[in-house]
Amino acid sequence: MTDNLFQPFALNSIITLNNRILMAPLTRCMADNELVPTPAMAEYYGRRADAGLIISEAVIIRPDGQGYPNTPGLFTQAQITGWKAVTERVHGNGGKIFAQLWHTGRVAHPHFFEQGDVLAPSAIAVEGSVPRMRELTYQVPKAVTQTDIDGLINDYAQAAANAIEAGFDGVEIHGANGYLIDQFLHFDSNKRQDEYGETPENMARFPLAVVDAIIERIGNDRTALRVTPGAYFNMATDANDREVFDYLLPELEKRQLAFLHIGIFDDAMEFDYLGGTASSYVRANYNNTLVGVGSYTAETASKAIENDNFNLIAIGRPFIANPDYVEKIRKGEEITPYSEEMLASLV
Ligand SMILES: Cc1cc2nc3c(=O)[nH]c(=O)nc-3n(C[C@H](O)[C@H](O)[C@H](O)COP(=O)(O)O)c2cc1C
Repeated sequence: MTDNLFQPFALNSIITLNNRILMAPLTRCMADNELVPTPAMAEYYGRRADAGLIISEAVIIRPDGQGYPNTPGLFTQAQITGWKAVTERVHGNGGKIFAQLWHTGRVAHPHFFEQGDVLAPSAIAVEGSVPRMRELTYQVPKAVTQTDIDGLINDYAQAAANAIEAGFDGVEIHGANGYLIDQFLHFDSNKRQDEYGETPENMARFPLAVVDAIIERIGNDRTALRVTPGAYFNMATDANDREVFDYLLPELEKRQLAFLHIGIFDDAMEFDYLGGTASSYVRANYNNTLVGVGSYTAETASKAIENDNFNLIAIGRPFIANPDYVEKIRKGEEITPYSEEMLASLV
């Protein structure tokens, strides 16, 4: 019934996945205090190496990108060395792994870094506070200058190069879920009146510059992107966002990425202004390899792939609850249900 999930899939001429099940990026907040991945993290990822591709938890590209405790980085030599142990373990077990590159933008909190401002396209705070750290309310960010933007693009490209040095098979740029790149793509968080705001072309300028800088450094075959056309997290919806993504998707298609991945928790959610679900909208506007996600079971994912809604499926929470998810699906065994208490330990 789920046989198609076990067909190999060539992302391009240099990367072929053993199956179509990706492990979705899952932040676990388990790096050490220098944001270095630990041996326990290497074992955690190693146990899940039978996924067609693991996408790592989001990894911050530099200190001012941090919005949660103990999220790993890729900007110091110690962090690169820590990740080497992870990628070696995954490769040793026959798997592949991409690093998800992250800057949280206005969702960053100065509690986590010593120098610099909270940066975002515009000086508009996100509501609320850091999860489980109520005293840390989100701050009004500084609207980035051209110098800030140049520095960010450079640091994304350097983090991508560091990922390759650490042995990752590629990177997924985190352009989803209301973080920095996504903040440029939505009217709720981007009120700029310069060449980075007001029009779809301008609002896509920084995201595309990051994509292009990373492609230049590590190649398009090793570069992927996650996007959220339907705002649902850290962001309010605005029907005008549609035009931004109508412009962005064909631009991305030209760049021949390894894949495009949708960022959403439940792909049954419909967005009026997208004319349906996030995946149906992206599929209609993007013809290259697409990764679906969001509350799928192996059965519903298999059907969605059969219907050509997307090419690959990313599985998140069930992979936390089931390190042996792929094996269980292959054998038709029952899946252990996910619960939030499972986040307390790295099994
Ligand atoms: C604990 C947890 C951590 C997550 N961390 C990330 C992350 O670091 N980067 C990201 O893009 N999405 C993250 N997500 C979203 C997942 O990648 C995925 O889109 C979501 O869980 C829906 O898929 P699922 O229904 O299969 O779990 C996270 C989700 C959960 C539950």
